Amino acid sequence: MKKQYLLLIGLTALVLLYCMVSFIKGDIFKMDNSLAVTDSTWLAPSIYADNTVSGEERKLVIYGQDLIAHTAKYLGPKGSVAQITNGMNCQNCHLQAGGKAWGNNYAAVFSTYPKLRDRSGQIESIYKRVADCMERSLNGTAVDSNSREFKAIYAYIKWIGQDVQKGQKPQGSGIEKLAYLDRAADPKKGQVVYTTQCASCHGANGEGQLAPDNIEYAYPPLWGAHSYNDGAGLYRISSFAGYVKNNMPFAVATHKNPTLTNEECWDVAAYVNSQPRPHKDQFKDWPNYSKKPIDFAFGPYADNFSETQHKYGPYKPIQNFK
Ligand code: HEC
Ligand code: HEC
Repeated sequence: MKKQYLLLIGLTALVLLYCMVSFIKGDIFKMDNSLAVTDSTWLAPSIYADNTVSGEERKLVIYGQDLIAHTAKYLGPKGSVAQITNGMNCQNCHLQAGGKAWGNNYAAVFSTYPKLRDRSGQIESIYKRVADCMERSLNGTAVDSNSREFKAIYAYIKWIGQDVQKGQKPQGSGIEKLAYLDRAADPKKGQVVYTTQCASCHGANGEGQLAPDNIEYAYPPLWGAHSYNDGAGLYRISSFAGYVKNNMPFAVATHKNPTLTNEECWDVAAYVNSQPRPHKDQFKDWPNYSKKPIDFAFGPYADNFSETQHKYGPYKPIQNFK
């Protein structure tokens, strides 16, 4: 009996040793492609592992990261600095403080701004882009460009994108674009997806759930008075569908192993974005109608397709018309 034990322990030790050695040599990674980190998908840096940033700049980067991750603590309805946003965190949509590949990250912000954006028809700075999300996604008011809060967010965005060359967008930055369906996205089918895959966290009425501190959300709202308004990026169902594909259900779906099919993503996006939410006056947006995204829900358009078809599709006829 004892001898058998010893043999077993010895064998296990040998196997472990073999695994460790091949792990260090990288053999395991080479053998199994699913583990390989060989593609060029963007990886966010960690400020705690980065000792090249010090002093005031370091304080700003760390504060900036916290502002993205816990926006409501500072700027939500019970915010300690100001009460100017709806209680959501930037991180609710920019996962891992904007550091997650395929999670609507900030990899390509510092490298591509300032840039011409068709929504405003103007060259936009990082400040303008951040202000946009505060006024639309957080349905609130933007912080001042001279505030310590904006300086911190700017320092963080600059720092997190430091390894990306000017003009470049690394693999996995922003939100994935899903192929268009041949049919319109269907809110009725989406409701079934919502009930079975999303409601357990986001609530039967999309209202989300506050954390025990009553300041931040444990599960952010998807519609209703406390959600993003209809001028936000997620109100376009292509953005919503692409975000959900790689990231929801939270902590389950990944880019490599998405939970939902493309069809389910489009349909659940149609369902959620057909529910009530705050309205933003957008009459000044998209001064050039022909630059409006296909799935922008509000006319006038440079074509004769209806608002309903622009919002839900089918998009291919519109695309072919352009
Ligand atoms: C409700 C979801 C949501 C929230 C909350 C949110 N954003 Fe966004 N944000 C988006 C979407 C969607 C986009 C557009 C992504 C795209 O089209 O690729 C975007 C884009 C951006 C961009 C430009 C990214 C790029 O690569 O061009 C920045 C910068 C940004 N957001 C900052 C913020 C900040 C700072 C906050 C918090 C104050 C915030 N966002 C909160 C959804 C959100
Ligand atoms: C296990 C709980 C859970 C499930 C299930 C889940 N989510 Fe989420 N969802 C979250 C959490 C948590 C966040 C915020 C992540 C963060 O702040 O880091 C989030 C964020 C979001 C956001 C961006 C923030 C917002 O409120 O607009 C969208 C959109 C979203 N989820 C859609 C969905 C959809 C659609 C489904 C179903 C297919 C789904 N989620 C299923 C937990 C969940």
